[in-house]
Amino acid sequence: MNLEDKIDNDIFRIIGNVADSMNLETYVVGGFVRDSIMGRKSTDIDIVTIGSGIELAQNIASVIPHKTKVTVFKNFGTAMIHYTIDDKLWQIEFVGARKESYRKDSRKPIVEDGTLEDDQNRRDFTINAMAISLNEKTFGLLLDPFDGVNDIKRQIIRTPLDSDITFSDDPLRMLRCIRFACQLDFSILPSTFDAITRNKERIKIISQERITEELNKMILSSHPSDAFRLLDKCGLLEIIFPEIVALKGVESVGERTHKDNFKHTLEVLDNVSKQSNKLFLRWAAILHDIAKPLTKRYDSRLGFTFHGHEVKGSKMVVHIFRRFKLPLNDSMKYVQKLVFLHLRPIALVEDEVTDSAVRRFLFEAGDDVDDLMILCHSDITSKNMLKKQQYIKNLAIVKQKMIEIEEKDKIRNFKVPVTGEDIMEIYGLSPCIQVGILKDKIKDAILDGELENDREKALDFLYEQAKALGLKKKNE
Ligand code: CTP
Repeated sequence: MNLEDKIDNDIFRIIGNVADSMNLETYVVGGFVRDSIMGRKSTDIDIVTIGSGIELAQNIASVIPHKTKVTVFKNFGTAMIHYTIDDKLWQIEFVGARKESYRKDSRKPIVEDGTLEDDQNRRDFTINAMAISLNEKTFGLLLDPFDGVNDIKRQIIRTPLDSDITFSDDPLRMLRCIRFACQLDFSILPSTFDAITRNKERIKIISQERITEELNKMILSSHPSDAFRLLDKCGLLEIIFPEIVALKGVESVGERTHKDNFKHTLEVLDNVSKQSNKLFLRWAAILHDIAKPLTKRYDSRLGFTFHGHEVKGSKMVVHIFRRFKLPLNDSMKYVQKLVFLHLRPIALVEDEVTDSAVRRFLFEAGDDVDDLMILCHSDITSKNMLKKQQYIKNLAIVKQKMIEIEEKDKIRNFKVPVTGEDIMEIYGLSPCIQVGILKDKIKDAILDGELENDREKALDFLYEQAKALGLKKKNE
């Protein structure tokens, strides 16, 4: 098969010409070939040459129109250049064809020079093991020893060689397998999947950063629950994310039962994913009920309860983020906040939707209120249609009320108009409990609608409150 049309770009001709002048067989391989056959855009190009990838990269960099730096990774025998095509920065990586053998305790292989065939044999999946020739005489020729093109047609992921060897050599590939299945909407060949089940323990030699990178890619796919189901089925989920496996199962006492929180969480995750591509909003969906197993109680009057799971869950976020090596920054605080507040909008309607309760909610949610409402809406997974409609109707009432109050009182980015410094300055105080009490009184009065959100009025209110506490102004 000739795929010249897939590499219809000057850069491939340049690479081919330089390779010819050096007498090197050279190919574009891996993800770029897979994606171009599938009609997907890719700006990462992997080039394999039967010789020195570093020398080839250096010679190419010296002839391409815009000067580019060659980044050399001597230890890996690879080199990288950047090249701009249609305003997009392409990353082109060069490597010499290799033959690899692995030790049991490490994913760091012993590497020797090899042929194209050796190089294709050591790749993870048939769809990633195709190569297109760049040398002039064979420009565009596809070399597909494992019938990757047919696997793309059949939408199948399978390993080129014995799956046990492919996965044991590099256990990260087990996650890549599930990730590709979800990203591309492909099925995994049963014998390949069974090999994941057999080799799952080997994932323990992979660094957490690499695991998390793959997991995040799965979470960002369009139907992420598929990935979690596959991870669960092969047993990898129990190893990398036991807290989520703990959500599985249903318990009953007589007629009373509770929902399977694993299934529910996955449904919420898919619901959120239909509405947003934000990685950490999806993480909030994954973690929103994470503390349910720890807070589950049975009460003969109320049935099963999970009181305080939102509080405990928001506290678990930091531990989970730390273990996953996810950033412990504002993204984590955002997830904590969403987990903490995820029940609030529904609770608002279950009591009476008072203006002050809505104001408090807007104040606490701040700029994340829209994301919180997406989570809250996605959390309605009841199979009882009447119940579901009632919840949706209630949420709509809360939303409407939020819009009205926000328009009127501008609470979302509200800052108390009198600061702690103001109070200390006026009353000659150093930081102390009274300053906090007075500040809270002003904030509460505004949120309760008793005081306008205005500095002058807030100062008058402060004077009254301070007087009642027996405080005197500095200059009195
Ligand atoms: N590869 C492999 N085993 C791995 C990682 C990569 O065999 N653990 C090979 C595959 O042939 C893959 C190529 O190296 O196609 C490039 O790897 P990478 O850039 O990580 O993946 P892509 O297939 O390009 O896909 P993506 O960019 O979506 O990760």
